[in-house]
Amino acid sequence: MALIAILPGDGIGPEVTAQARRVLEALDLGVSFEEAPVGGAAYHAAGHPLPSETLDLAKRADAILFGAVGDPACDTLDRHLRPEQAILGLRKELGFWANLRPAKMMPGMEDASTLRPEIARAIDMVIVRELVGDVYFGEKGRRETADGRREGHDLMSYAEDEVRRIAVVGFEMAQRRRKSLISVDKANVLETSQLWRDVVNELAPDYPEVALQHMYVDNAAMQMVRNPGQFDVVITGNLFGDILSDQASMCVGSIGLLPSASLRAWAGDNGLYEPIHGSAPDIAGQGKANPCAAILSAAMLLRHSLDNEDAALKIEAAVAGALAGGVRTPDMGGADSTSQMGDAILAAL
Ligand code: NAD
Ligand code: IPM
Ligand code: MN
Repeated sequence: MALIAILPGDGIGPEVTAQARRVLEALDLGVSFEEAPVGGAAYHAAGHPLPSETLDLAKRADAILFGAVGDPACDTLDRHLRPEQAILGLRKELGFWANLRPAKMMPGMEDASTLRPEIARAIDMVIVRELVGDVYFGEKGRRETADGRREGHDLMSYAEDEVRRIAVVGFEMAQRRRKSLISVDKANVLETSQLWRDVVNELAPDYPEVALQHMYVDNAAMQMVRNPGQFDVVITGNLFGDILSDQASMCVGSIGLLPSASLRAWAGDNGLYEPIHGSAPDIAGQGKANPCAAILSAAMLLRHSLDNEDAALKIEAAVAGALAGGVRTPDMGGADSTSQMGDAILAAL
């Protein structure tokens, strides 16, 4: 029996994860669930954001359903004890280097987007974000200069093999989609990005059908609100992918809509599935959180880790159906609660 690890985390993490679990349970898949604390919740309970029992469960599992971590009460702790270290640690420890963040306009959701409907309607992209390198994991520190000024640093770097494997994911995915790949970097300034661009260019001849374009990240941020329909598959580094995916979420209506998969293999292996949003302390505990991103992450879990495309499609159709029926949490301009949104998706299932 497949084992799904549930790591609800902090803030709205447990609220949205509970709805995703309901949906998985309703499908009667014959899987088992095991839950463990992570993030601030784990720090408060056990003194560490990623206790060894939680890491062990994640490693034992066939797939991981993750909520969100982050707790303002922990923002002044030593960095290694902060909740965010749990998600960074899981990605690194389990080697989940490929992060897929699909953003697609769902029927009838145009009014929730901050873009004009005719512009928002065309959105159907996947951001493929590198997840275990870049400035996130480079040497970092603080020091004092000779004349007594405080200085902080974080090293940005990529090795060519790290770039190559994520670029291959992007090319392969583009080949199966609209055959367009946009690689986002800052090669006009950063040497890390120039290497990124060189490696991507070296692969291009292997994919003659894919139209490859390079775009600077500042322009990409602008293009994403000017004409987001031009993006099919986007590959980018850890930091740029983090920022651009939050932006893409609002283009399709809400940050509460975007799921993600963090993978080390395309299929048949453990992966971590989470909404792209955080713990949203400003709305936690109020039943206001949009659970769609978490529920759509459960669909990605079934697709990539449990080889169950049918069930994944069923969930995605149920979410689209509930939204098309007008059920909306406050982030999408409605007044329905987290559990009402879950109810509607279950009913559509
Ligand atoms: P956030 O994504 O938590 O919230 C940003 C804004 O979006 C808030 O106004 C919030 O209310 C809203 N929002 C987010 N998810 C929503 C949902 N499902 N439904 C409705 N509204 C939603 O980002 P933040 O405020 O910058 O960060 C809060 C904490 O979360 C921080 O500690 C941060 O480090 C952490 N964080 C964790 C993850 C993760 O676990 N993967 C991701 C992002 C941020
Ligand atoms: C995300 C989050 C994380 C990231 C943080 C919480 C470490 O913003 O998953 O998008 O930056 O990767
Ligand atoms: Mn983020």
